[in-house]
Amino acid sequence: MPSPFRPDLFAGKVAFVAGGTSGINLGIAARFAELGAKVAILGRNPEKAQAAADGIGALALTADVRDFAATRAAMERVRNELGPMDFVVSGAAGNFLAPVLGMSANAFKAVVDIDLIGTFNVFRGCHDLLNLPGASLIAITAGQAVNAMALQAHACAAKAGINQLVRVLALEWGPEVRVNGISPGPIAGTEGMARLAPDASTQDKHFARIAAKRWGEIGEIAEAAVWLCSDAAAYVTGTIIDVDGGSQVGDASRVDLMKGLA
Ligand code: HXC
Repeated sequence: MPSPFRPDLFAGKVAFVAGGTSGINLGIAARFAELGAKVAILGRNPEKAQAAADGIGALALTADVRDFAATRAAMERVRNELGPMDFVVSGAAGNFLAPVLGMSANAFKAVVDIDLIGTFNVFRGCHDLLNLPGASLIAITAGQAVNAMALQAHACAAKAGINQLVRVLALEWGPEVRVNGISPGPIAGTEGMARLAPDASTQDKHFARIAAKRWGEIGEIAEAAVWLCSDAAAYVTGTIIDVDGGSQVGDASRVDLMKGLA
């Protein structure tokens, strides 16, 4: 589908994407660059970060978002080398399927640290490096924030925390900064899909629940991020946008179950 956004929409803008070395986050970074923004991406692995950055003409940065000082130093580089940041995306995440009784305290903490504490670190560390007023911050969250899911206690807790952090920051940092979240559904070709729906049978069960009757595409999450950072969303802050084909609304497979009854 052709994008409604003009090709120079983000000319002169500076964007920073934490976790931007693969998947949805790299898709967002690539789209911002395509629209003219100067982009920096942050990952844990220097070679992977450099290769991803080279592919989209971005600045590669290495840090673990669990480390506040290292994350802050990376964002200082962005400000010094590219300029004050207009857009900050916090998307670094960790996940695995495990029941609570199969999860050590450290396993739970690892995901909460990457997702929730990482998002706190990115947002807390960026404020005085932003181009104000008018900066837009986006956290990548998930439906687990609002719908409990077995084998996902760590992600449910972390993402719920992210949603509330988004809302609090929107209140504290408005009107200079807008803070929102994007909650992607099952997106084809991502590590999240591979981890959460690792086999055909699990994928079929997830698929049946989707109202849109298809997997999402990375580009569709990127377009939502572009919109949130555009002037068209100037009055949007403190909200979480589901870009998920209706996955969080309910279970669309009920439609098939009920066929013939009405
Ligand atoms: C139970 C597990 C486990 C598993 C790891 N652990 N995998 N426990 N079942 N499958 C435990 C370890 O034994 C350890 O506990 C603790 O978790 C930390 O593991 P480490 O490997 O030491 O930590 P670390 O190297 O920091 O790795 C973090 C990680 C890893 C989250 C465990 O998977 C990771 O780095 N992931 C990053 C990439 C990623 O997950 N991407 C997918 C994102 S998908 P002990 O007690 O032994 O020390 C996504 C979209 C989903 O987020 C949307 C829904 C939220």
